Parts: sequence; C-alpha cells; structure tokens
Amino acid sequence: MHERIVILDFGSQYTQLIARRVRESGVFSEIYPCTVDVSEIARLEPNGIILSGGPSSVYDKDAPQLNPSFLALRRNGGQPIPVLGICYGLQAIAYNHGGEVQRADHREFGRALLQVDQADDLLAGLSERSPVWMSHGDHLTALPAGFKVIAHTDNAPIAAVRNETRSVFGVQFHPEVVHTPEGHKILSNFVRQICGCHGDWTPASFIEEKTAEIRQTVGDDHVILGLSGGVDSSVAAVLLHEALGDQLTCIFVNNGLLRKGEWLEVQSTFRDHYQIRLEAVDASDLFLERLADVVDPERKRVIIGNTFVEVFSQATDRVEHELSRRPRFLAQGTLYPDVIESVSFKGPSATIKTHHNVGGLPESLDFEILEPFRELFKDEVRQIGGLLGVPDHILGRHPFPGPGLAVRILGSVDPSGLALLREADAIFTEELRKHGLYDDVWQSLAVLLPVRSVGVMGDERTYENVCALRAVTSVDGMTADWAKLPADFLAHVSNRIVNEIRGINRVVYDISSKPPATIEWE
Ligand code: XMP
Repeated sequence: MHERIVILDFGSQYTQLIARRVRESGVFSEIYPCTVDVSEIARLEPNGIILSGGPSSVYDKDAPQLNPSFLALRRNGGQPIPVLGICYGLQAIAYNHGGEVQRADHREFGRALLQVDQADDLLAGLSERSPVWMSHGDHLTALPAGFKVIAHTDNAPIAAVRNETRSVFGVQFHPEVVHTPEGHKILSNFVRQICGCHGDWTPASFIEEKTAEIRQTVGDDHVILGLSGGVDSSVAAVLLHEALGDQLTCIFVNNGLLRKGEWLEVQSTFRDHYQIRLEAVDASDLFLERLADVVDPERKRVIIGNTFVEVFSQATDRVEHELSRRPRFLAQGTLYPDVIESVSFKGPSATIKTHHNVGGLPESLDFEILEPFRELFKDEVRQIGGLLGVPDHILGRHPFPGPGLAVRILGSVDPSGLALLREADAIFTEELRKHGLYDDVWQSLAVLLPVRSVGVMGDERTYENVCALRAVTSVDGMTADWAKLPADFLAHVSNRIVNEIRGINRVVYDISSKPPATIEWE
C-alpha cells in the first residue's frame, strides 16, 4: 500500500491544488468530501490529513462541519495521524477546540509577509519573512487550549499554529497557491517531516503497478480504446499496449474535421511505430454530409456526437468479428479532476464547465469500463507519457475540441472552408513552434469567419475570407487571457497566411479574454 495523504474538502477552489502539491512531494494524495465517514478514512490508514479551506464561515448555519474524530485518528492504533488545517480548516479546528474565530471587519485578500516564530517542523527552512497568500473573511483571535503560535503577520497575530503534541497544525494562509512561493516547502515539511512519508509515488512506480493491475483485470479478454491523438488517449494507448500487447485495439475515427496531416500522422505513430492494433475509420464523408448547411453550433455538436457514437459502435462490431468474440472492456481517459467533481460534498461545482465532450461514449455500448488514469492529474499523465517514450509533440499538444474544426468554421461547414482553415491553422502552429512560442500559450487556433472582405493583391482587387487567430494563456481553460504575442510575429504569420492561402485576404487577432468571451468562437 502506498503512503497516502487524505485531503478533506470543505469547498475550497484550491482543494485540487493541495492534492497536486502533495503529489509533487512524491506522496499520493486523495480528496474526500469533509462529510466522509471517519471509519472510511481510518480504514485507509493515511499518513496525514489536510483540511482544505472553504468559502464558509464557521458561524454560517449550513457551514460544513469538521468531525472532531478526524483529529483523534491513530495509525494502527498507535501514533496520532497528523492533521494540517488550511484557512477554513484551521478555523474549524479552533472552533471545535474552544478557540475563538471572529469575523474580520474586512476580508483579507492578497499578499502578506509571514514572520516565522518557530522555525522547526512545519516551517523549517523558510525565510525569516516569507510572502504568503491570504484569502479569508474570518480569522483566529484566540488559540484553543494546548495550541501555540508558530508564525504571525502584521495583520494576523495568529497566522500558523501547532498543538503541544505536534500532531495538529494550522495555517491561516494558503500554502498551495503559487503566490505563496515557499508554500511547497511547508507542505513538503508536513508530508515528509511531520507525517514521516518517504515519497513512494513516482511515475515509474505508477506504470509498474498499473500495468500489473491492468493485466490482472483484463485477463485473457480484449480492450477497445477510442484514440483521438490527444495527450490522454495517446498515453493511455501506449500504457495499455505495454500491458496488453495485441489484446488492445484502438479505434481512430476520421470525422473530416481533423487538422492538417492528422489522419495519417496518428496512423503512422500508433500503427507503424508502436505496432498497436488500430482500426482507423474514415467516416469524413458521412460527417460532412450530415453537417451540410448546419449553422447552429450546438446542433453541429449533437450531430457530430451522435455520428461518432454510431461510427464507433460499428467499428467495435468489426473488431468483434475479426476477433470472433466481443471485446469486454472499453478504456477511457477519465482524469482525477472529473472524478473529484462527482464526489464533491456540494455536488458538481457550478463553476466547472460541462461542455459536450464529443468522444464520450454512452453506457449503452455495454462494455466494462477501464479508467487507467482515474487517479491522475493531467501533468502526471504527461510525465508518465514521457517515461513511456510518447513523443514531446504529442505530450505538449494544445487541447483540441472533439467537434474539431467544425466549431472553428463559423456558419456551415464545407470541404472548401475546411481546406482553407487547415492551411491557416498549420501555418499558425508551425510558426508558433518555430519561434519557440507554442509552449508559452495554452491553446492556439485559427477560425474561419463567414464574411468576405475587399483586399488588393498585385494590381487586382480581391474579395475573400477573413481568418481570425486566437491564442490564450490559461491554467485549466476555465478562464483565459489572450496571449500577448509579439506584433512582429503576428505580422509574419498574417503575411504567410494571406500570401500562401488563396481564399484568405485578411487576418485578425482576437484580443478577448474568457470571460466574457469563450476560447472557441462557437
Ligand atoms: P470554451 O470555448 O468553452 O472552451 O472556452 C474551453 C475548452 O474546451 C474546449 N471545447 C471543447 N472540447 N468538445 C470538447 O471536447 C467540445 O464541444 C468543446 N467545446 C470547447 C476548447 O477547445 C477549450 O480547450
């Protein structure tokens, strides 16, 4: 069994970040709603427990409660399991133990300077004055019995605490965010020094254990995987192939909405290079036929989604025919953030976007589901892909929507528009890579607009399409800012597009952030 830190979620927007930071210290971490049964956590015998922050005040009528039994858990009935409360987590501990929590006159939000009073255990190795990120309404005004202050700020006399037995700790600030530059040290101190973890969560150990687990689960049966050429499905394909060899068949559908060269590239990477059984289905005519004259973006998505399921399902029938038996498993690239969403104690958070994930397959397909990345964050999938030798250009690829170029041609989708857009997109991507800018942006795209404008080329008047370029910086696609690409670079890309693509005579750059705009134009 792995070393494990349990994070109890009290509704903080940063809970996932805590989990990621702990894993960066090489220790497996898992998030549970704060309402989870204490016995369930006791059974896991975690090395430590972290209580997240949260938007509530401990005085709110419906404030999430901390069950005090979490603070009294012991490993194997022996040593107490250390607990670290962050922000609301600290307030909940104090409230439970006779400390005093008060509403501040004003919310404290932003940077503060932490002055360390006790530089051992939790705060060991920190600078004497270390910037920390505060984001809270309530704060602690009196310590619970047996607790001691280990750091303060100008505004907060109680910024970090510990109890006498050094089994319960609390911080008023957020060590998990980047605005607390030494926060990773604090979390690492907690996990390694205080909880005694050595760090046994590594990409290599994941690969070794997961391959063994997949082999055991699958036995002699066969697995199907929908391959899109994106990061998650590509790494899943290589990992499953490593575990199962020819007991894996990938299905790759050409919906006619892929980027330039993608149809052949994916086949050559996976079939020729990795020697993975690949059922590549060119259904582009069917998709484009059904999309003819469809203008509404949501209708486009529904048509593409339904057609995909139909084509995919026929492909699985063909695989069944070839194998002379029905494959038993369908592998999916579900990641940990999707799993957390469904276990949140408040139910799925309203802030998370739930777009139609084309490529998501209905349960009616009647396979057992295999989700090898269920416990992983995206950056961990990338690390694992790196170890498995998946090429960097796949691992570092920008996200690409399931409905592909259909939502980047405004208005109806047709082969001539697709041809123009493919060329423009290829030029933009090639130049971003050439200028070392590709990895600086989170996503980049070209959009073909349903307007034509007048231009002049040589001595001739032109009346052609407009292409919009968009590049954004973002952490998770939920919010985004337009990328401040250098003007010279944009001029160069614009020149290339207008000179090389017959049919586009004007290029514009999108300078809207999300919100209020979205990343895609449809
Ligand atoms: P928006 O446009 O909503 O996009 O700001 C956020 C992220 O989601 C991607 N996206 C999609 N992905 N199916 C997908 O699989 C879709 O229908 C879809 N719509 C948007 C978008 O590319 C961006 O990364």
